[in-house]
Amino acid sequence: KVHAYPKVYDAIVVGSGAAGLFCASKLSQVGLNVCILTKNTADTSSTKLAQGGIAVALPVNDSPSLHFDDTVKAGAGLVDRRTALILVEEGVKRVIDLIRMGATFETDELGLLKFTKEAAHSVPRIVYYKDKTGEEVERALLDAYRGDIIEFAFVKELIIKNGRCYGVIFEKDGKHFTIYAPVVALATGGAAGLYEKHTNPDTSTGDGIAIALRYGAVLKDLEFVQFHPTAFVEDDTCFLISESVRGEGAIIVDSYGRRFMGDYHPLWELAPRDVVTRAIENQKKITGGKVYLDFRPIGEKGVDIYERFPTITEKLKQVGLDPKKDLIPITPVAHYYLGGISVDTFGRTNIKGLFAIGEASCTGVHGANRLASNSLLECLVFGERTAYGMYRDLRFLSLDFKKVSFKKISAFPSQNNLQVYTMKDLKKTMWEYVGIIRDGAGLTKAIDVFRQIIHSSSSFEVRNSAVLALAMAISAMRREESRGGHFRRDFPYEREEFKFHSTFTFQDLLNS
Ligand code: SIN
Repeated sequence: KVHAYPKVYDAIVVGSGAAGLFCASKLSQVGLNVCILTKNTADTSSTKLAQGGIAVALPVNDSPSLHFDDTVKAGAGLVDRRTALILVEEGVKRVIDLIRMGATFETDELGLLKFTKEAAHSVPRIVYYKDKTGEEVERALLDAYRGDIIEFAFVKELIIKNGRCYGVIFEKDGKHFTIYAPVVALATGGAAGLYEKHTNPDTSTGDGIAIALRYGAVLKDLEFVQFHPTAFVEDDTCFLISESVRGEGAIIVDSYGRRFMGDYHPLWELAPRDVVTRAIENQKKITGGKVYLDFRPIGEKGVDIYERFPTITEKLKQVGLDPKKDLIPITPVAHYYLGGISVDTFGRTNIKGLFAIGEASCTGVHGANRLASNSLLECLVFGERTAYGMYRDLRFLSLDFKKVSFKKISAFPSQNNLQVYTMKDLKKTMWEYVGIIRDGAGLTKAIDVFRQIIHSSSSFEVRNSAVLALAMAISAMRREESRGGHFRRDFPYEREEFKFHSTFTFQDLLNS
């Protein structure tokens, strides 16, 4: 039985990370009745776990055009230049908005913003708050938001009629509800949580992207996943060690104590993330040993490691390591999903009334490899622009808006296989075959497993995520080259004929 949620809203935003909160706040500031639906507690999001900061062209020795050049260079030939210009130019204003909304960043003795450096940035341009920038951003945005929030609301279906979105179906406390609004934005985050090892909350399983695919949204660049080079992984423990640690001077050494990144890239430890990730994997193979992060050069520059990186220090302490003294073993893990729901520069998808923002969307701004700390910036810039797009479209979409009846989508694959798979099975397959280094044989195995999962009697969440996993594996199979976050050992070089954004629809999945 599906219950009707008693209130009708002007706008629904699904997800409570920086993108969803910024967009919803902008909408409620202009008097709209907004509701955020979120899968867990309001502050469970990848945003909250972001350590590094927000890249913004505010320093005196910087400019939007320099930031633009770095973004394009990191993106391995696939950055959408128009969108990237919007990002770097509007980013300056949006970070100031965020400060006005109450977010705190580090400042110097004159009260001016301090900037740190991260990989592939030509100048220090990252505003930050200790190593917990995301936590601070999430706090400030939640404090500023004045609309409704429904927590533990797991969105499972869209309400679509004649190519238009009228609302969503969500599950809460075991009950299903319809909730209606003329404009709906998916800000459900990325899909790194589909991997065995990742830096995201476990809720980042790409479900918003998978649902959009099932209802006819066009997806883009699904094969591109960013793996972060420096996570600490031991048994079930996996946490991020921010790139800003390297920005402040930490180096990477192999099991012989040799600093090796110069063998792979002239920027050494500050090379683009995909390069550092593969270099670490390769060096492990060559030496047969671990690879370590050495924080000590930071201390030698007079920076107090404990004070600058309190979260990381505390987490390391819990596993018996002291970054002032010990070498820290590191492993690349899944971190950020570059693919997502294809949108225009106002967050519009190809479905009327349906928008997408943040990691769930694909604006093309990051190309095949995202520049560090451009993700929170994207949430702000496109959070604002999506709010504007929703506000504008509401004018005509509200004219003939009605509560249409919900018809269960028939395209979701039927359950004809009684085997039950868990999220763990799915994540293991993703890690093994759709991970850092891929090849045709592994991808074929993954495609086979995901098809079985879709047709199994597994839970909705597992089958829904398998829809996206399958689309990712098929997209990775189709791209017979290596570029940015997509590396194929059977096609190890960039190929000019593949210099395009890929798209994927539900029809592609049915035809596969
Ligand atoms: C980090 O702190 O290394 C993560 C920042 C990002 O993903 O941009």
